Order: sequence, then C-alpha cells, then structure tokens
Amino acid sequence: MSDIAPPLDQRRDAWSRYWQQDVLHSLPGSFAGNYDGAIERHWQQVFAPLGPKDRVLDLGTGNGALPQLLCGQHAGAMPRVDAIDLAAIAPDWLQQQPQACREALHFHGGTTAEALPFEDASFTLITSQYGIEYCDTQRSLPELARVLAPAGRVALLLHHAESRLTEVAHEEHRLTGLLLAPDGFLDRLQQIVPWLALATTPDGRARLQGNADANQARAAFNQGMQALQAEAKTSPVPDLLDDARQFASQALARLSGQPASDVLTHIRAWRTSLEDARLRYAELCACALDADQAAGFAQALDALGLRGVTFHPIAHDNGMLMGWVLNAAKPA
Ligand SMILES: C[S@@+](CC[C@H](N)C(=O)[O-])C[C@H]1O[C@@H](n2cnc3c(N)ncnc32)[C@H](O)[C@@H]1O
Repeated sequence: MSDIAPPLDQRRDAWSRYWQQDVLHSLPGSFAGNYDGAIERHWQQVFAPLGPKDRVLDLGTGNGALPQLLCGQHAGAMPRVDAIDLAAIAPDWLQQQPQACREALHFHGGTTAEALPFEDASFTLITSQYGIEYCDTQRSLPELARVLAPAGRVALLLHHAESRLTEVAHEEHRLTGLLLAPDGFLDRLQQIVPWLALATTPDGRARLQGNADANQARAAFNQGMQALQAEAKTSPVPDLLDDARQFASQALARLSGQPASDVLTHIRAWRTSLEDARLRYAELCACALDADQAAGFAQALDALGLRGVTFHPIAHDNGMLMGWVLNAAKPA
C-alpha cells in the first residue's frame, strides 16, 4: 500500500496505541481469542514442517497472533522466530509461554518491512497475516526476497477487497467520520460538558436559567443523540453508534462526581481511540486486494525470482470470505 495518506509516524503511533490495549489481533470482533477454524488450520499446515533449525520471520506481526499459534504447535522444538512491526510492540502473552517459546521469539517493534534489519538469506519461512499489504510493497517485497533463504517458503494471508472484513471496515470508516466530523457528535458532546457541570450546583443552575447558549448546546447534543439512534437503525454494523450513545451518557454521568476538566479529558481520550480506529479502517480499505491486484502481487514476487507462486481466496468455517492465501518459494 504505497499511497497511504497519513504519515508513517502517525500510523506507527495509532497502531502502537492499539497494540498497547493488549488485544491479540486486529479483528477482536470476529475472533474472540486467536484466529481459529479454517485460518488456524491453514497456518498449522504452513508451520507443520518446521523444526528447531528453521528461522521464521513474521511481517506486520502486531501483538504476535501468528507467533502465538506457532508457539502452541511447536512448543517443544521451536524454530527461532523474528517478528517485526512498524508499531511499538511488547505482547503481554509472551510472559505466560513456556521458556522454550520465550527464548525463541524475538519481537522487533519500530521496524518496517521496507528496511529489514536482517542478513540476506536468513529465513526459511516468511509469513504475514494482514501485514505486508499495509506496507509499501514496491520496497517491502524486494526486502522479503532478499532475506529469504534458498528453498525458503513464503506464506501470506492478505486482505480481500470483497471480504466481510473489508465491507465492515468501509462502514466503520463512514461511521467514525460521522462521529468525528466538525460539529459532529463528539464536538457536541464536548460542548455540553461545561453547561451540564454548572447544573450540578444550585448556583450554577440559577446561572443556566434562560441561557441561550446553554439551551442551544443542549438542543444540539440531544439532536445528535437522536441522529445516532436513527443511523443505527439503518447501519449494518450499528455497534459503534450504540457504543457512542452509551459512552456519552456515562461520560456525562461522571459530572456528578468529577470536575468538567476530567470529563473532557476522558472524552478526548475516546476521540483519539476513534481517530486511531478510523485510520486503521482506512488502511484496511486501501490495502485490500481485488483479484487483479492479488495477481499483480503474485507477479511481483515471481519477478523477484520466487517460484511456484499461487494465490486463492480463503473462507472462514461459516463461509465468510477472509482474504487471499498466497504461497511461494525461493529456488534451492
Ligand atoms: C492488521 S494488523 C495485523 C497484525 C497481525 N499480523 C494479526 O494478524 O493480527 C497490520 C499491522 O501491520 C503493521 N504495519 C503497517 N505498515 C507496516 C510497515 N511498513 N512495516 C511493518 N509493519 C507495518 C501495523 O503496525 C499493524 O500492526
């Protein structure tokens, strides 16, 4: 994805904040624990031939969903795994793993796939799950080919332009846009806070009597709440809108025990998490590949000297389209 609008440091910071929440992967709404079903079986097949002499590189690893699967499968005879990500990463789950896994796994945060800090021909398997398509592939694919050892394998799971994940990301991108727009719901929520803070004291209530600005802020906020409710009735993914209304009610209820400044800080933190989510949705939509783009991706690997490049769609057990599986290998 070479035409991402936000600068790299903004993307890095947004993803870093996301992974610091201790989520295992970027689809917590779709998979409660780690990826399961057809996706897990796919990776188990990819990992099956590995032994302790292998060296694995996972690109765009996030909080290490793939390394965790690998650990579970090969706990006794782990290959060394290097897992890189643009974001700052330090997965908490690693501390609960057996010593063999902890010693084998090496996470490298703040590392981009476009400039890999590894020697040529270092890895016998390179993986990426919804990771490498987020990068500038004109620069990251040559890096991948460079650090892959002769006879080494490449196994990628890429976003699909027609998957349910992409569909949801498009809608969530639209909805976060509504919430964050100038004079949108969050602006109106912030604007009503000082007025409602006044309403917590008899003195303040007296000052609110007939105050046109206060009345206007309250009307705008109430209208915003109603608009969200109406939007939620027609949106295929209304959860975010329901969450927004609930968040607003709870944030305003805090005014009974907290100063307005603390409540505003709380709302601003939520704004940041919404902005981060919006950035992630935009990235997903921009990097998801249609059939022609998947073919172009495969051709690019072929042009870099990889052989046996294949790609096909993969669906979850419930039939939901999940992405493209792309496999390739370097000649021996
Ligand atoms: C959708 S997440 C996937 C995480 C993980 N592989 C998973 O399956 O849950 C995409 C990840 O790619 C990372 N990323 C984006 N651009 C990158 C780059 N140029 N180099 C390395 N990582 C990058 C992001 O920071 C993010 O953690």
